[in-house]
Amino acid sequence: MFERAKTLRDQLNYHNYRYYVLGDPIITDAEYDKLYHELKALEDAHPELITPDSPTQRAGSDLQEDFPKVEHPAPILSLSNAFDAADLQAWEERNLKLLAEGTTLDYMLEPKLDGLTVVITYENGILVRAATRGNGRVGDDVTANVKTIKTVPLKIPVESNNLTPPQRLVVRGEVLFLKHDFEILNQRQQAAGLPLYVNARNTASGTLKQKDSRITASRPLTAYVYDIVDISEVDMHGQVITLNTEQQLLTYLAQLGFYIPPESHYYPTLSNIIQQIPTWETRRDQLDFEIDGLVIKVNDRLIAQELGVVGKDPRGAIAYKFPAQEATTKLIGVTVNIGRTGKVTPTAQLDPVFVGGVTVSNATMHNYKFIHDLDIRLGDTVIIKRSGDVIPYVIGPVTGARDGSETPIMPPEQCPHCHTPIIQPDGAVDHFCPNPLCPERVFRSIEFFVSRGAMDIEGMGPQTVKVLMDEGFITDEADIFYLEPEKLIALERFGEKKVENLMAAIEKAKSRPFSQLLASLGIEGVGSTVANLLADQFRSIDALMAATPEEITQIEGIGPIIAQNVVDWFNDTHHQRILNKMRDAGVNMQARERIRAGDQLTGKTFVLTGTLPTMSRDEAKALIEAHGGKVTSSVSKKTDFVVVGDSPGSKADKAAQLGIPMISEDDLKAML
Ligand code: IVH
Repeated sequence: MFERAKTLRDQLNYHNYRYYVLGDPIITDAEYDKLYHELKALEDAHPELITPDSPTQRAGSDLQEDFPKVEHPAPILSLSNAFDAADLQAWEERNLKLLAEGTTLDYMLEPKLDGLTVVITYENGILVRAATRGNGRVGDDVTANVKTIKTVPLKIPVESNNLTPPQRLVVRGEVLFLKHDFEILNQRQQAAGLPLYVNARNTASGTLKQKDSRITASRPLTAYVYDIVDISEVDMHGQVITLNTEQQLLTYLAQLGFYIPPESHYYPTLSNIIQQIPTWETRRDQLDFEIDGLVIKVNDRLIAQELGVVGKDPRGAIAYKFPAQEATTKLIGVTVNIGRTGKVTPTAQLDPVFVGGVTVSNATMHNYKFIHDLDIRLGDTVIIKRSGDVIPYVIGPVTGARDGSETPIMPPEQCPHCHTPIIQPDGAVDHFCPNPLCPERVFRSIEFFVSRGAMDIEGMGPQTVKVLMDEGFITDEADIFYLEPEKLIALERFGEKKVENLMAAIEKAKSRPFSQLLASLGIEGVGSTVANLLADQFRSIDALMAATPEEITQIEGIGPIIAQNVVDWFNDTHHQRILNKMRDAGVNMQARERIRAGDQLTGKTFVLTGTLPTMSRDEAKALIEAHGGKVTSSVSKKTDFVVVGDSPGSKADKAAQLGIPMISEDDLKAML
């Protein structure tokens, strides 16, 4: 135990030095936190283990020598962490014990933005100062830099509404790069031949602490504001300002013109909040900003104040941390994947590492340009990320951890499956195996053709496809429709029942909608949306085959590149042969007659959100379309009605903002 505490202290102090002094960390923040928490827990249980050099004895500080200092009007506190629902419940129980009997608590739930804290002061509505968190008491003066951030108002209120600014207002917020801005920044780096940035948060930190604010101005930072550190009792007209709840506080900040954390919501109970957690874990990847958890705040500010502070953490709020999605590990090998289009994807073989809740031993590196641009070498320590359902991927190397034994990674000269020389078309990022008959490419196309999102032939998983190919029963997608049950039964592990089910699934696939067939062919850029548009317009394979790129681009939502892909695909004699074979086998190649039930909704555009009481989303869409209406996926000024079901998403908020009528399933039915 004594030894462990010492090891942890030494490790943490070393990583602190790498992070703050060298600016070259070799572990992720989450890995650091884990070590820190282990040490903190040990010391909490055995205070005799605490030494003066323990990193827990250092109040966190990011102060830099060459910036003027600003004293904060009140301590810039941090939050204690929760990692599961039980931690949250324990937090509420602890709080309730401190409050008068019978007190009930309601809450605000906000995303925990993964950036850096800034503290901004306004006097009579004018931005006069901005500072970093520093050590929580004193921060670095970064006023000139913060003034370059477009979402930070220089004067409040931004709109000349009825609001009068407070005489004095000190707000707290988070500075970060939106994901798409970070991408743009890296594209610029690339164009200038400069190294790419790996970590958005570190880059935001470096950008905020630039000595030359022109550099800050050239990089698109964003700031969200979520808290008031200090506010004068009255506004400039002497009116008393009252903000009783966190909800009112956020609304007030928004009215003044601040950018507040999107998707922040009020919930009457903690169980409501806990129910929201799974949704957030998936929503996380769709947001345009990084979050590392959620912040839950007691809504009543008087109660929160009464609860007080333990150490640096107020009791009235808590951070729910998502499981770490990033980890470092060693790159021990690179394998080559060939996709159905022939695209070559280098895959990292890794020392197994636990991340995002599972053990990961390989991760994609996208393409060889990526490897080259980031200078990833074999033997490197790399940062990997696993978020949601996406395949784990390599973010970049930890160059500080190199010992000189690392070696460069080169694209393969030949396809590992058919030995055709690998090519890189002019101007392309990717390398390709150009052989359309490459057994691996054929396997991948068939695997895709039968998969759930495509023709959905149940019982035909990748293993079955492999066996049937090895046996020579299928050499392309069309052969599936010529399989003979007698021959299948003779195969190992193909029982009577299995063959019967498989034959029935294949038979069923013959009458899939035309659009579904189109989406299954693997034409580049033709997923279900484009396939639907094509099927709707051309109605049959013959008409589509005869179409010119110009005719195809007439369709709204299809651009010239996809149009050309479609034409090229159908011009290929190999593809024509496959289609003919399918047609002869009786595969449906025609759109169904449109059923027209009425015209009541002609010219009207609908958006669906939430779970409807009796209909699935597809059913509701079909019903609207059958009556002449249109269904789109996002709410805009052009939307006429939003059909709202149970637990609606942000679309309902958007509709409310734009003043678009919201109706129920019953209202919809009544319109017909
Ligand atoms: S409230 C006194 N709300 O998370 C409580 N913090 O330790 C003040 N953060 O460093 C924090 N998003 O910079 C709050 N919606 C949010 C937040 C948020 C991110 C950061 C904050 C702090 C850390 C919590």
